[in-house]
Amino acid sequence: MDLQLTNKKALVTGSTAGIGFAVASLLAQEGAAVVVNGRSQRRVAQAVQRIRTERKNAQVTGIPADLGTKEGVNLLVRDVPVVDILVNNLGIFEPKPFSEITDEDWLRFFEVNVLSGARLSRFYLPQMLQKNWGRILFISSESGVNIPVEMVHYGVTKTAQIALARLALPWSCCRRCARRKRQRAASIARPHDASAADISSRVEIAAAWPPAL
Ligand SMILES: NC(=O)c1ccc[n+]([C@@H]2O[C@H](COP(=O)([O-])OP(=O)(O)OC[C@H]3O[C@@H](n4cnc5c(N)ncnc54)[C@H](OP(=O)(O)O)[C@@H]3O)[C@@H](O)[C@H]2O)c1
Repeated sequence: MDLQLTNKKALVTGSTAGIGFAVASLLAQEGAAVVVNGRSQRRVAQAVQRIRTERKNAQVTGIPADLGTKEGVNLLVRDVPVVDILVNNLGIFEPKPFSEITDEDWLRFFEVNVLSGARLSRFYLPQMLQKNWGRILFISSESGVNIPVEMVHYGVTKTAQIALARLALPWSCCRRCARRKRQRAASIARPHDASAADISSRVEIAAAWPPAL
C-alpha cells in the first residue's frame, strides 16, 4: 500500500501498546515520521525501538507525556509543535457498575478520553488549515454507539469523541444536514482565512470505532 505519507508527520496518542502501537507502526511503514506517546520514558523508548526493529527505515521518535492532563498536553505540543496527522487514540476503560462510578471517575474518563483529543485538535487544526492539508482521527468504539451497561462512563466518553469528530461532519444525510455541514465548516474555517471547502475536503476529521470494547 502507498498512502503517500512520505514527508508527513504523524502523532499517535497512547501508542506504546495496543491499537495505538499498531497504528504508529503502520504509519511508519507507510513513510510518515511518527511520534509515539505514553506516560513513561521507559515504555516510550521500548516502543520506538520495537518499531525501528520491525520497520526498515522507520522515522520514529517518542514523547513521554500524560495526556490526561492539561500540563501533559502542553508539554507534548511544546516538543512537537507541528503535525500533519493526529491520531487521537488514547482511551481508558474499566468495568464498574453505574451506581459506583464516582465524580472522580467521570472526570478522569472525560479528561483522558475526550479532553486529550479536544486539546490536541484545538492546537493542531489551525496549522492544518493554514497548510491546506491535515488529518485528525479519533479512535472511538462501538461502545460509543451501543453504551455498555457495565461501563457507562466509558461509553459516554466514546459517544463524545464521535460528536467531537463531527467538528467537520464528513457526511450528510439530508438537505438540512448538508446545510448544517456547510455552516459548521464555514465557522471553523473563517478565523483561519480558510474556506469551508478546505475544511470539508483537504482537512479531514473522522471517528473510527474498532469493533470489540
Ligand atoms: N482494545 C479494544 O478492544 C478496543 C475496542 C474499541 C475501541 N478501542 C479504543 O482504542 C483505543 C486504544 O485502546 P487499546 O485497548 O489499544 O489501549 P491499551 O492497549 O490499553 O493501550 C493504552 C495506551 O495508552 C497509553 N496511555 C494510557 N494512559 C495514558 C495517558 N494518560 N497519557 C498518555 N498515554 C496513556 C498507554 O501507555 P503507557 O501505559 O506506556 O503510559 C498505552 O500506550 C482506545 O481509545 C479504546 O477506547 C479499543
